[in-house]
Amino acid sequence: MPAESPRDELDRLWERGRRFLGSEVAILGGAMSWVSERRLVSAISNAGGFGVIACGAMSPALLEAEIAATQALTTRPFGVNLITMHPQLMELVGVCLAAGVGHVVLAGGLPPGAAVRAVKDGGVKLICFAPALVLAKRLMRSGADALVIEGSEAGGHIGPVSLTVLAQEVLPHIRDVPVFVAGGIGRGEAILAFLEMGAAGAQLGTRFAASADSIAHPRFKQMFVRAAARDAVPSVQLDERFPVIPVRGLVNAGTQRFLVHQGEVRDRFLAGEVTREAAQLEIEHFWAGALRRAVIDGDVEQGSVMAGQSVGMVTGEQTIAEIIEELTAQAVAALQARRAS
Ligand SMILES: Cc1cc2nc3c(=O)[nH]c(=O)nc-3n(C[C@H](O)[C@H](O)[C@H](O)COP(=O)(O)O)c2cc1C
Repeated sequence: MPAESPRDELDRLWERGRRFLGSEVAILGGAMSWVSERRLVSAISNAGGFGVIACGAMSPALLEAEIAATQALTTRPFGVNLITMHPQLMELVGVCLAAGVGHVVLAGGLPPGAAVRAVKDGGVKLICFAPALVLAKRLMRSGADALVIEGSEAGGHIGPVSLTVLAQEVLPHIRDVPVFVAGGIGRGEAILAFLEMGAAGAQLGTRFAASADSIAHPRFKQMFVRAAARDAVPSVQLDERFPVIPVRGLVNAGTQRFLVHQGEVRDRFLAGEVTREAAQLEIEHFWAGALRRAVIDGDVEQGSVMAGQSVGMVTGEQTIAEIIEELTAQAVAALQARRAS
């Protein structure tokens, strides 16, 4: 029998993830609001990975159109990411089922039972985010077919725990469903290391957002190319009475202004000019529409430039096919190097 090649070995390591996703490589393009639309999603799936549409705040009609447009650009499988607090969540699930989407990701908190049942009853594979081992077990019991563990290194909304720790906490104990790792991944060697720890595959966002196939504004991509890992920081909360949702993004004039805004709102609360609830809302509204402003309009100074710490590994504008090929080649080269030593 011929010896297993390093590529065969990699394919064996991520076989479970590939089978679950129906893709050539077990690399997911994490859903990114405004960024993960038809072009990026189809480019990822056409390059052998698994693209995921970010529904975000889209209406059911818009999602239906986006799915149809993506299907026109690829015959390969892709998924749809729905945010659980969307007021029309059930209608959105219905749109995915009617369009024949094979995988639905429910993000942004524990998914409601009705949505889980609707996805499962429709014969669609359900992927959920597990921010801790207890929640991973609970999600599995409630019907999740796969889990994503996303470390705090990731871009966008983040939890408090790094992937290094989450992977150790979750991977050895969850064997019944595939677990994909996300957050801070920029190279194939890292993917290989997590596969060897028991992961089924990896999800990346930041590197794909800056790709040539991304519709993000050139200024948005340019900022990714220039940034170092240390520039991608979580949003800062000024006063514990007014909680701020942690979001990782690049420091800019907007992040500085957010601190000043929080201070001004707090002072007005202390002076009795606004209620605590109104003050909290004012703080939460600061970033409304800000991701769109950065991604689409290219206002990278005042907008929200969400990015993971992996941004330091974005060194130029590559195509999605080049990125996926590079990640795979790095994992294969690492396996090859071991044999040579
Ligand atoms: C610009 C941007 C927007 C994002 N928007 C979403 C989103 O709408 N829903 C979601 O579940 N995750 C979102 N994420 C997280 C990604 O899906 C992915 O898990 C994350 O980017 C992985 O970490 P990395 O950026 O270090 O690769 C976003 C990330 C970025 C960079």
